[in-house]
Order: sequence, then C-alpha cells, then structure tokens
Amino acid sequence: MSAESRIDDLLGRMTLRQKVGQMTQPERLHITPDEVRDHHIGSILSGGGSTPGENRPADWVAMNDAYWAASMEEGDGLLPIPILYGVDAIHGNNNVLGATVFPHNIGLGCANDPDLMARIAQVTANEILATGVEWTFAPTLAVARDDRWGRTYESYSEDPERVGVLGEAFVRGLQGDLGDGAVAACLKHWVGDGGTTGGVDQGETTCSEEELRRLHVAPYLPALRAGALSVMASYNSWNGEKCHGHRWLLTDLLKDELGFEGLVVSDWNGIDQLSDDYGEAIVQSVNAGVDLFMVPDQWRDFIEGTISAVEAGRIPMERIDDAVRRTLRVKERYGLFDRPRPADRPHSDTALFGSAEHRAVAREAVRKSMVCLKNEGGHLPVSKESRILVAGRNSNNRGHQCGGFTVAWQGTFGNDHIHGGTSIWEGIHAKAPKAVLSWDASILDGEHDGFDVAIVVIGEGPYAEGLGDVRSGGPVAAGSGGGLVASGPVQTSQGGTPYAATLEHRRNHPEDLAVLEKIRAAGIPVVTVLVSGRPLVVEHEIDASDAFVAAWLPGSEGAGVPDVLLGDHDFQGTLAFSWPRTDTDRFNRGDDDYDPRFPYGFGLDSEGRRV
Ligand code: GLC
Repeated sequence: MSAESRIDDLLGRMTLRQKVGQMTQPERLHITPDEVRDHHIGSILSGGGSTPGENRPADWVAMNDAYWAASMEEGDGLLPIPILYGVDAIHGNNNVLGATVFPHNIGLGCANDPDLMARIAQVTANEILATGVEWTFAPTLAVARDDRWGRTYESYSEDPERVGVLGEAFVRGLQGDLGDGAVAACLKHWVGDGGTTGGVDQGETTCSEEELRRLHVAPYLPALRAGALSVMASYNSWNGEKCHGHRWLLTDLLKDELGFEGLVVSDWNGIDQLSDDYGEAIVQSVNAGVDLFMVPDQWRDFIEGTISAVEAGRIPMERIDDAVRRTLRVKERYGLFDRPRPADRPHSDTALFGSAEHRAVAREAVRKSMVCLKNEGGHLPVSKESRILVAGRNSNNRGHQCGGFTVAWQGTFGNDHIHGGTSIWEGIHAKAPKAVLSWDASILDGEHDGFDVAIVVIGEGPYAEGLGDVRSGGPVAAGSGGGLVASGPVQTSQGGTPYAATLEHRRNHPEDLAVLEKIRAAGIPVVTVLVSGRPLVVEHEIDASDAFVAAWLPGSEGAGVPDVLLGDHDFQGTLAFSWPRTDTDRFNRGDDDYDPRFPYGFGLDSEGRRV
C-alpha cells in the first residue's frame, strides 16, 4: 500500500473529532498521556525551558514513550496514530542539560560553511533523537534587516542568498534520507519575520510582493527543494495582514505555487492575534492554510471551536481533510508509523549525547564564526606564555555565551546551568598557565606581577524573542512559554520590557567600557572579544582596544575562542551583517548610500589582512 493510499485509508476511518485532534498541538505542561489518547492529539511540543524530570535524555525518552504509547492505543473508538513531538532545538538540543550547544545562527552565518552546517545538523539530530523527540522547529530562515530585532541572532544573515545556502545545508543534515538518524525540519517563520519596521518582534513588514519574494521568500526555495517536512507561520504581518490568517501566503504561494506538500504549523498562540473572537481566529487560520495548531494550553477550546465551525459550515471539510492529510503525510514520510516506541529506538539516550566528538564540531564552529574587526599593534595571536589578564563580564559565563533558547527560554546566567563545555576563560586558562582572571580588573588595584596583554570579554546578557528587542516603549509580545526558567526572568506569555532602548553598547553596559579604559590606563594592550546576539554600536569600545573580535553567541564550547586568539587557528569568519556606526543606522548589503562601520563580508586575519 502506498503512503498516500495509507493516508486515504486512515482518513476514511477518522471521525471529525479524531481529525481535529490530529490538528492540535498542546504544550507538555498542559496535556497528559491519557488526554492524548482521549482527544486523539496529533502532536505535542516543549516550549523553551519546559523540560521533564531531571532534564536528562532518559527523562525525555520516558516522557515521550508515555505519550507515544497513549497515541498508539486502538479499538473502542481509538486509531493508532503516533504522536509527533516538537522542540526548539535551534543551536543543538539546547533545552536539555549536558547538550552540545552550538553557536547561534548569526555566528554560523559568519562562518559561512555549508559542510559544517550539515555536520552541525547531523550532531543536533543525534542529540534530539537521544531524547525520543522527532521534530525541531529549525532552521530559522529569517533575513534580519534591522539589528534591533531581539531574534537577530537566530538569523544567518541579512543576505537572502547566504541564508538560503546555509538553511538548505542544515535541512539536508537534519533530515538526510529520513532514515533512523533523521529529524524532521521546520522552516520558520513564514514569512518576512526579519523585515519588520524597526526590528519590532511580531511587528509589521511593509514591502512590495517583489521585495518580499526577493528578500524573505527566496531563502526558503532551496530548503523546500531539499524536502523540508514543515513550515511555521510567522507572527508578523505583511502589509497590515497577519501571516497566520493570510491565505495568499500560506496556501496560494507556499502550497500551490511553490508546491509545498508538508504541514504548516502555527506559532505559539499565533492564531490568537487574528481576532478577539477565538472562534473567528480559528476559522481565519484554518481556512488560510494552517494545518497544525500550536495551542499550548487552550487546546480544548481549539478542538471544540474547530468542530463547531465545521458543523456550522464556516470551515469546509475538504480543508480539514487537507490539513490532516498533510500531518499524516509528514508522519508517513518521516517513517513515524514504522518506528518503534521511543524507548526502543536506536538513538534514544545515546552515549554520544554531549560527547567529546560532538563538542569538537561545536568548537570548530566557534573558531570559524569569529570575525576580527580590528587588529593593531601585532598583539594577535596572543602568546600562550604571556601573562594574560582575562577580564570582562562575559569572560567566565557559559550562560551568557550561549544566549537565549538555552536550558531556559530566555537563557541562563553563570556556569551552573550549562553542563559540559567551557567558558572562554576556562579555554584560555587551559592553554595559557600564566593567565589570571579578574573580571572587573580589580587585580590592578593591588600588587600584581604585571601583564603582557589583556583579553577582555564584553557584551550582552541572554534574551529571546521580543524581550531582546532594542526599542523604547511599552511591553513586548512574548511568544513562547511553558515551564520555569532555570534562572533569570520567569518566562511569561504576558510580555515584558525590551532588552534596551539603544544599540549603543556603552549606554546599555557602561561597565564594559569602564573595564577597558581601566586596563588601557594601566598601559596593558587590550584584545577585546564581544559576545552578543547582534552587531552593536561599539565605537568607544573599539577605540579602547588594540584588537577587537566579534564572537557572537558561541555556545557551550567557549574554548573555541582562545583556539584562535592564542594562535592554534587563524580567523576565517566574515561579517554576515553590516556593522552600524550609529544607533540609527540600518545598513544592509546592496543599499544605496551604503556606509556601515564594517561592511558585509569584512573580516581580518591575525596578520591584519582581509580574510
Ligand atoms: C515561539 C517562537 C517560535 C518557537 C515557538 C515554540 O514563540 O516564535 O520560533 O518555535 O514559540 O517555542
């Protein structure tokens, strides 16, 4: 029996309630295995930081095994249709303690290495499968055009071509031949999420159809050709109309013109933004072409509202059947019907999880992602025999170097929650025995033996989504939720305040410039490393440095940074984003009057030559 005929057969035996259950995706905190069985649920997700038990792979496998078993019960009005579990494994299986955490996409965009992307995806797939999960909401194919956006770090580049090449490589690495080692990909967020005015998260993208296709649709084409099984609808609007309710975007363009045969999943409560009337929001989003609904807590209302709308003739049964067919098709193509229960799958709880082999791939990615923006005085590479003063708020902080969507939705602080891996300081100290850590350089206030050079790691703290926006004004619409964060702000769906009101780093974190100037005043040469989720206005910090390196959000393998600073490898990263001069700059490659502080493609090596 062919896959499609198996789907036809199943569809033909399903009641309306069973069909709508397949269209429903609750969050794990709001659904039990018995409810999965009783309501015929098709998929479940973990929101950022929503983790079972001790948050080890074995805990995840046990959770997924229970959900799977419930979904496979049959008889007495039950049909065995395996559950599909989705997570935001966007830079490794980043929710799970001990996972290999890769650099966020902004760094990978600067590495610009498709082969490396495929290997990262394969390692990520293995560490996702270790937890009994089959689906990740990645890669993000946003083309971030305004660095103020709190999700800039989830974008590979401001350039659609670079995004397309890297996104395709990631999809091929994740899904491969859809065999045992594969994980289903999800291209997001469809479409134009990186093009909002002012970089406002979930905001308004205003542009012509030609510009939308050229900048924001184009990167999806190679990834769709690579067979990505799912696409996530975006919160933003296009020319005033929300993507979640946009029939032309979701159906006419994506499904009809581009021939996408997989499923479209809504974002976290994304349909709520269509109307104050939930029933109306359901009707609009289902009819527009959303197939699977991420309705974390109000999944019962969604089920009942959808059934009522079908019975009232507001949603045609053909649309329901098409939505369910697409979800069943994804499960078929992924081989989910033929895979054993999570507890019996070959990669579940694999010893490769967080292994040295996996971490070596991440450390390579860190090295290749670093971009040298300034290199004067011949202080690079730093000698391992030097007396090195290591300072800066991000020098010994794995949480900060990982950024958002790491163990917790908004990320974490310090080293305690990032199990395995190394901070940048730990990497330096392992290579340079005379290195000394004094994060605020207070060692200079007392007796010391003098220093040949300082490595000062400055930058941002972690953030995710709208809470990372740079803008003044009111609360942000925060998306994901579910579960308490390991530390730091408790994630909410009620929104909070933007990360900062300016891109000018010295206004957001004056302590960084203060440390640089203190060390400079002591006559010590300074190599500055910026750990951040985006380009920042750092004119004063650059002026206070002899060398200046953008390390982005390197993830758990901070030792990759000194691999380059101390000369075991040379710089090879180039800017995937134009670097701003002032707080109001919004330069992008190809603009008229293009005059950034550092242009797209810029990068120096340790001799000070262009890479
Ligand atoms: C969030 C994000 C999306 C993520 C989803 C599930 O709001 O917008 O990227 O996949 O919710 O956590």
